[in-house]
Amino acid sequence: MNILGINAYHGNASAAIVSDGRLIAAVEEERFNRVKYAAGFPAQAIRYCLKEAGLTLGEIDHVAVPRNPYARLGTKLFYALRMPSFARERAKVLVKVQGIPEALAQAFDDDRKKIRAQFHRIEHHKAHLASTFFVSPFEHACLLSADGLGDFASTMWGIGIGNRMEIDGAIVFPHSLGLFYSAVTQYLGFPKYGDEYKVMGLAAYGQPEQLELFRDIVRFQNGSAGNGFKLGLDYFSHHRTGPEMSWAQADKTPTLGKLFSEEMERRLGPARATDQTLEQRHRNLAASLQARLEEVYLGMLRKLAARTGLKAICLAGGVAFNCVANGKIFEATPFEQVYVQPAAGDGGLSVGAAFFVWHQVLGKPRSFVMDHAYWGPGYSREEICRAVESSGLAQKGCAIAELKEEELMKRAAAIIGGGKILGWFQGRAEWGPRALGNRSIVADPRRPEMKEILNRRIKHRESFRPFSPSILAEATGEYFEKSHPSPFMTLAYPVRPARRETIPAPTHVDGTGRLQTVTREANPRYHALISAFRDLTGVPVVLNTSFNDNEPIVCRPEEAIECFQRTQMDALVLGDFLITRQWSRESSEVDSMLRRT
Ligand SMILES: [Fe+2]
Repeated sequence: MNILGINAYHGNASAAIVSDGRLIAAVEEERFNRVKYAAGFPAQAIRYCLKEAGLTLGEIDHVAVPRNPYARLGTKLFYALRMPSFARERAKVLVKVQGIPEALAQAFDDDRKKIRAQFHRIEHHKAHLASTFFVSPFEHACLLSADGLGDFASTMWGIGIGNRMEIDGAIVFPHSLGLFYSAVTQYLGFPKYGDEYKVMGLAAYGQPEQLELFRDIVRFQNGSAGNGFKLGLDYFSHHRTGPEMSWAQADKTPTLGKLFSEEMERRLGPARATDQTLEQRHRNLAASLQARLEEVYLGMLRKLAARTGLKAICLAGGVAFNCVANGKIFEATPFEQVYVQPAAGDGGLSVGAAFFVWHQVLGKPRSFVMDHAYWGPGYSREEICRAVESSGLAQKGCAIAELKEEELMKRAAAIIGGGKILGWFQGRAEWGPRALGNRSIVADPRRPEMKEILNRRIKHRESFRPFSPSILAEATGEYFEKSHPSPFMTLAYPVRPARRETIPAPTHVDGTGRLQTVTREANPRYHALISAFRDLTGVPVVLNTSFNDNEPIVCRPEEAIECFQRTQMDALVLGDFLITRQWSRESSEVDSMLRRT
């Protein structure tokens, strides 16, 4: 039985196919149309998933859409009367969502009548919860989804038992931890959709000196469910105007209208303009925001743990990407096991909706665990050859060699150890926003200057944002103060003080690292690369950043070569091919590294 999940007309449009209870493919539309966080209808993502599964649209039995216009209808109508322009915008999107069967037929130039699939509408947060619990290794766990807003709710929690989820409660519009974080992110001069990451990185440079005031901006509220919070609405404007989200167009990155009010500026001081210098005041406000998010988020988790006595928690929604808060779960709550799948945000809704149908609607038993992230497109040796040949790299002075695995790993490790920057393109693309060793840029973590070099030459991003370490899973406890697996870079742990000087480049200013723990089972080739680097240097860690330059992560080999050429990357590994520039071949440091291998 084949289920197609579609997240459409919403940020991070995506598609996924689940066949007989196992995930076959999952990808976000942005990887194909090259528009970050692309909304719209994910026709290319659907086409890829069908191809990967070897299916035609006519062979799909169920289509799962993570949106239910009838959920919270009373609340929606109440606010629709108060905010007519917002209601009109929502209605336009809902009309589009209702038209998904027609959009599907149109995208595949097919007759609507040939689509025999049954369509299901799954409430946004139920799809989030399904996206984490039904692919987790747990039979019995607490569940929490928290983000900006979906189907008029911001937060939902419950329990997962086997192939069922029981929903215990939800927090509805206008109260939202995600919108709280987004509002202060905007106030701090980062207005773009997805900029919350930047503020999380900035928070480490400040002190939470305004925490008391932030406790007034988000307040605990113990309702009947005993798990609530409320926003101090004076600080916000979205409850009066509606959160102006524009994500109806596929060719645009979604945007959010202004969320904070004049009261926020009156209490916190004037908002920072995008081009204004960052002052310590801004860093302290970022720290206060992060501290309050952690208090509320970890407080909710503590209550869930106390009510259920469970030791495992599955997290989803945009807030579940807050790796700093997630890293504190072990010490701040009774939970001992945490699962966050790699597309915890809205991209993951296609997977969640599909698994919701398989288990919750059809009652099928569990048979799948998402223990790696490689569910996107992969390319054959022939496709890589064609891309290399048509690039003209050889004519431009690059050396190109096809190598056996052992030799490739030694050479790649020597290039990294010699202080060079390596593009690393292997296998199927990662699911979710993190590069996890198949579409990565890899560098030497031992060099403190590497962060600045990467930013200057390749990434062109703010200096306060940290880079991440990938570590051999078996060495995690040697370098970090916690060793619970973090295969998808969704947890940040303190680096052991004695190791902070060993891996300064991916150690953040507060001494933490947003780590990826790499096992041989999940990614044998990336594990082999880090092992080769460890054999050469004694350090089982590489710095890993996504293979891109202010764009969606590269997907095809042509895009990797284009990024390699555009930026000042030194070398590129594409499958078994090693491509090096002239200057990197002349490096005496790489030579001496190679002699040591
Ligand atoms: Fe969401």
